[in-house]
Amino acid sequence: MSENVVTMEKIVNLCKRRGFVFQSSEIYGGLNSCWDYGPLGIELKRNVKDAWWRDTVVSRPDVVGLDASILMHPRVWEASGHLSNFTDPMVDCKLCKARFRADHIQDSVCPQKPSKRPGECDGELTEARNFNLMFRTNMGPVEETGSEVYLRPETAQGIFVNFVNVVNSARMRPPFGIAQMGKSFRNEITPGNFLFRTREFEQMELEYFVKPGDDDDWYEYWRKRRMAWYTDYGIKPDNLRLREHASDELAHYAKGCVDVEYNFPIGWQELEGVANRTDFDLKSHMDTSGKDLRFFDDGSKERYVPYVIEPSAGADRSTLAFLVDAYDEDGPEDDRRVVLRLHPALAPVKVAVLPLMRKGGLPEKATELVETLRPHMATAYDQAGSIGRRYRRQDEIGTPFGITIDYQTLDDDTVTLRERDSMEQTRVAVKDLLPQLTQRIAPPVCDIPLGPNRHQN
Ligand code: GAP
Repeated sequence: MSENVVTMEKIVNLCKRRGFVFQSSEIYGGLNSCWDYGPLGIELKRNVKDAWWRDTVVSRPDVVGLDASILMHPRVWEASGHLSNFTDPMVDCKLCKARFRADHIQDSVCPQKPSKRPGECDGELTEARNFNLMFRTNMGPVEETGSEVYLRPETAQGIFVNFVNVVNSARMRPPFGIAQMGKSFRNEITPGNFLFRTREFEQMELEYFVKPGDDDDWYEYWRKRRMAWYTDYGIKPDNLRLREHASDELAHYAKGCVDVEYNFPIGWQELEGVANRTDFDLKSHMDTSGKDLRFFDDGSKERYVPYVIEPSAGADRSTLAFLVDAYDEDGPEDDRRVVLRLHPALAPVKVAVLPLMRKGGLPEKATELVETLRPHMATAYDQAGSIGRRYRRQDEIGTPFGITIDYQTLDDDTVTLRERDSMEQTRVAVKDLLPQLTQRIAPPVCDIPLGPNRHQN
């Protein structure tokens, strides 16, 4: 295997070493599948979420946001089908007590004999039984029947139950969307692969409501638009593909579903799903709650239950994909450089200011510049070690620009601006830095129009 291949191990090590992601509760031995974002990781993930919110909500007239609570009325999960359908088949090894998803046995290994599959070792597997993935807890101080609630397994249901509230308060009419980002919880049987599958994770979901009959066009539209989001923010197109679900694979609510898949170090895996959920959810909530959730079109005097197109992405999984895609090693064998080629809009630190020497007025001049830049962008200051070592430290965390302050700066108020990817250095006047950097770290603007027929609203 070439040394340059990106492995999950390299990503995990970099994340720990540089403070992107730590194992949860590490001093107690860690908690399986739970991760804590460190100082750089939280900035990266926040930038990923901001990028999604900007593209999905802020830049569109037809989408509004919502932040619903994690705990919801238990009947929500009855209506959504999660109480009866949100299960995975599980088997146990009678010998070593390890647990596996019955439908993933082909991809699993025996923990005692990793060269064998579960059941092909000395252990015998139990019959498969269904296991509900929702986390249950109790509301209030007494654990009694009727106080049971669930941690939401998807953010989508918070949107459906607020459909009428949003239509009435924000005066939205189909086609329009409600977007939400937030934590979801699933008691996964086999979590793993770092941030890829965890029991607590963040979703970025859009429920886009359309008139029945317009759903196929919007389904096509959102597939394209979501693919473009990943490539606009730097994911290599070759590492991205769409995989249409076969009819026997579709969720109980879906008419069509496509996975946006990414070529992770563990192989091609789902990054996001785009589904045509039809009118299943609103209708189920109407039946279960007894409330009328139809939309009344006062132009045509029609009353109907909208269809829903749902692009549903994972914030943690996207963050992992951006990290993996950006990871690179270059330079000669004896002088390897690890570099995260993150899109500047996603990079946790945008610019590092580095005085060439720790004397002669250079640190003072550098600090002055840091104070000018910091209100506008995440700016680092580093004066420790050789300039080469300092560039490397910034390359490894994906900082797109480095500014070196030297003695010439004191004479003519110019600095050296170094670009992370090309390592090219140019001389720039201090007065031009802020406008130049602001332009170069700006988020991309999607060139796909607002809808299949451009002027929808
Ligand atoms: N509302 C639809 C829905 O929740 P999903 O395919 O189950 O659909 C959507 O989840 C996205 O949420 C996935 O594509 C993935 O990015 C993320 N996701 C789901 N389960 C996850 C887990 N256990 N760990 C991390 N991310 C997860």
